[in-house]
Amino acid sequence: NKATQSEVYKPSEPTDMQAPKQGQTRLTNAAGNPVADNQNSLTAGKDGPVLLQDHHLLERMALFNRERVPERVVHAKGTGAFGTFRVTRAIPELTVAKLFQKEGTECRMLARFSQVAGERGFADTVRDPRGFSLKFYTEDGNWDMVGNNTPVFFVRDGLKFQDFIHSQKRHPVTHRRSETMMFDFWSLRPESMHQVVYMFGDRGIPRSHRHMNGYSSHTYSLWNAQGERVYVKWHFHTQQGIQNLMEPEAMEIAGQNPDFYLQDLFEAIERGEYPKWKVSLQVMPEADAETYHLDPFDLTKTWPHADYPLMDVGEFELNENPDNYFAQIEQAAFEPSNAPRGFGFSPDKMLQARLMSYADAHRYRIGANYAALPVNLNQAVSPVQTYHRDGQLRFDGNFGGMPVYEPNSFGGPVQDGGEAAEPPITVGSRADRYGWPDTDEDYFAQPGALYRLMRSEEQARMHDNFARHLGAAPDFIQGRYLAQLDKVDARLGAGVRASLEKPEMKARPQIETILKEDHTHAAGGPLSGQ
Ligand code: HEM
Repeated sequence: NKATQSEVYKPSEPTDMQAPKQGQTRLTNAAGNPVADNQNSLTAGKDGPVLLQDHHLLERMALFNRERVPERVVHAKGTGAFGTFRVTRAIPELTVAKLFQKEGTECRMLARFSQVAGERGFADTVRDPRGFSLKFYTEDGNWDMVGNNTPVFFVRDGLKFQDFIHSQKRHPVTHRRSETMMFDFWSLRPESMHQVVYMFGDRGIPRSHRHMNGYSSHTYSLWNAQGERVYVKWHFHTQQGIQNLMEPEAMEIAGQNPDFYLQDLFEAIERGEYPKWKVSLQVMPEADAETYHLDPFDLTKTWPHADYPLMDVGEFELNENPDNYFAQIEQAAFEPSNAPRGFGFSPDKMLQARLMSYADAHRYRIGANYAALPVNLNQAVSPVQTYHRDGQLRFDGNFGGMPVYEPNSFGGPVQDGGEAAEPPITVGSRADRYGWPDTDEDYFAQPGALYRLMRSEEQARMHDNFARHLGAAPDFIQGRYLAQLDKVDARLGAGVRASLEKPEMKARPQIETILKEDHTHAAGGPLSGQ
């Protein structure tokens, strides 16, 4: 049969495989040698063993064994799409960033949404924060915003991130996720309460990636041509409206379609229903940071909007699915340290730890030259010109014969400070390990205010949500945690206690309570004994 795939195959659905283009139908090996037979291994005689000389077979087996790069150590399950960001309000008074100089400026971008704790094949609708990563390919290189769908986080010092994540991942013996570990850690680090109250509320399981907000969570900064710095928190409000799933339906979906969110986003974009988000800022003058009644760099606290209202500065829509998931989403490398001129950081301790962590993770996960992969730069908009050379899988020409050191006399790239210089940041003077335990700190006021903002039906659902999970932790941990829920709001503690009494709230029901039918019916059937 001499029919080529393109002759017999007509794609009709976007999810069909794509027909090869002209000249792409001849099968070759990795060196481009035509393959004569892709069906049968080379054997010594019809029934004989396989010959070592079958290089095509060996190459296929060897490359198959190397198909996976390590999954992200956190946020492994996710999906993404390309889109367009548009500035709706120029803010030259706040920043020299080229992106924000003119209203109407547009910029290509990439978004990736993710689960935090689960592995690459994890179910989408499990209760957890969602990652909200954005990469803007600006004229001055990439600006990355690697946030979550909640404005706060569980811990506020990079030194506790590894412990926190271990408590969320799998148990070292049972290899299952463990409510004992989760609630043990949370009850011993009460600064996590604000984020936990978010997570056990309705927003803990969004209806889809399209129906959730994103937040920088951290405090970042912007600086202008006069050398003035402001501290900012970024907000990305969904224009599809917030929609959430209730835990029982979410669990059912997890069983029936673990890739529910992936399907939703992909198909919405294929239908031309491009999801949109509004981009806003809270702006705090630098001087306020000294005197504000909350630590503005504490990632477990929000800035009340009454003090720092939202300023709308842009909007983005996602309008293009990836051509290839691995090339463009799995190999996407987001890093909070990607900050063009005009964008700056803050003394937030977690942010400072993250500035190192992501590039390090990419070098391990994807390789030393990860930044040169097409999805991680936009050469047409902002060409990359560095003195980095060589390294594994240097596939891009390696800057040919350009000078390899600087300064040089041959016109190699030179620094460009721009017209304005980044203003200096004042930092504390006495090096020490400040912070824990600040026994008199109020960990409960903001989560309490959040709880009281919720309607009573949502509060009732939160009581059940907590009980479903807390119920699986040992009594001494339950007791310690309930005492903290009392401090958030007495009604929350009492509500969770009442929910814990309901028999249906037992987390992770035992197999006997799930199996309703007689599962021995296959016994004695025609296949018995085979
Ligand atoms: C992914 C480290 C805190 C949001 C990652 C990855 C690492 C990491 C190593 C995997 C990167 C990769 O392999 O591509 C850390 C450390 C933290 C921290 C050390 C604290 C010190 C946070 C916080 C947020 C966050 C506070 C949100 C506000 C994300 C997101 C991803 C991610 C969204 C997925 C990025 C993507 O879509 O590829 N983090 N993280 N992380 N982290 Fe963090």
